[in-house]
Amino acid sequence: MIVITGASDGLGAELAKQLMDDGEKIISLSRTKPADGIEHIETDLEDPSSINEAIKMILAKEEPLKALVNNAGILSVEELDSLTPEELQRIMQVNVSAAMSLVSGLLDRIKKDETDVVNVVSTNGVYMRPNRMTYSVSKWAMRGFTENLQEQFRGTKVRVIGFYPGGFKSNNLTRATGHPLPNPEKWVDVEDMALALKQAMQHPKSMQVSTLVIERKL
Ligand SMILES: NC(=O)c1ccc[n+]([C@@H]2O[C@H](COP(=O)([O-])OP(=O)(O)OC[C@H]3O[C@@H](n4cnc5c(N)ncnc54)[C@H](OP(=O)(O)O)[C@@H]3O)[C@@H](O)[C@H]2O)c1
Repeated sequence: MIVITGASDGLGAELAKQLMDDGEKIISLSRTKPADGIEHIETDLEDPSSINEAIKMILAKEEPLKALVNNAGILSVEELDSLTPEELQRIMQVNVSAAMSLVSGLLDRIKKDETDVVNVVSTNGVYMRPNRMTYSVSKWAMRGFTENLQEQFRGTKVRVIGFYPGGFKSNNLTRATGHPLPNPEKWVDVEDMALALKQAMQHPKSMQVSTLVIERKL
């Protein structure tokens, strides 16, 4: 089984679809129900107790945990002169703390099953952008978490894949701003981005894609 946070929409949903086509069993940790065929563990990643419940439900399953894909993430559009503690807390909780809590709670199982941990970061965690301060900081933290895990699991069969996509077509911008995606033709198709991630996960276990940066070709 492969656990994906946020397989109810966007990149997570498309990755789930493509992995299911390859015969994988997918579990989505999300608030809304994912597409048919994906098992749903209803989870609110903003809520630590909901994450703990999800961990218990995963640990109760006997199938090996092949991969944990920390995909769920939210944008913030607050500007530097008007940051609020509530928004900072929300973004850091969903984009960083939730992934760290999942890895921590599942650690024994990850070691036993030699699970792949896949962190979906962003090019915002590679190049510093002048705006989107809170989102960028959360993604740089996610990059730090990814690189720390790579060191922690050095010498083991647990792979830690860092995926750093540029802009692709999804609803995340619209969710954060209420506006449609501007110039959609300039954004990567989500199917292509999901395929790149799936392929990175499917290399032989002797290979780890530590850092995969895929930029939009502008
Ligand atoms: N789109 C881009 O251009 C882009 C570029 C670079 C990186 N990324 C990153 O790629 C990842 C996926 O983004 P996307 O564009 O595919 O996003 P999306 O279409 O907005 O989907 C986000 C997913 O995260 C889940 N999620 C959000 N808040 C949650 C919460 N509190 N609890 C549980 N699940 C939650 C949503 O599920 P529910 O609403 O059902 O809970 C949904 O399935 C994110 O980490 C994002 O930062 C995106």
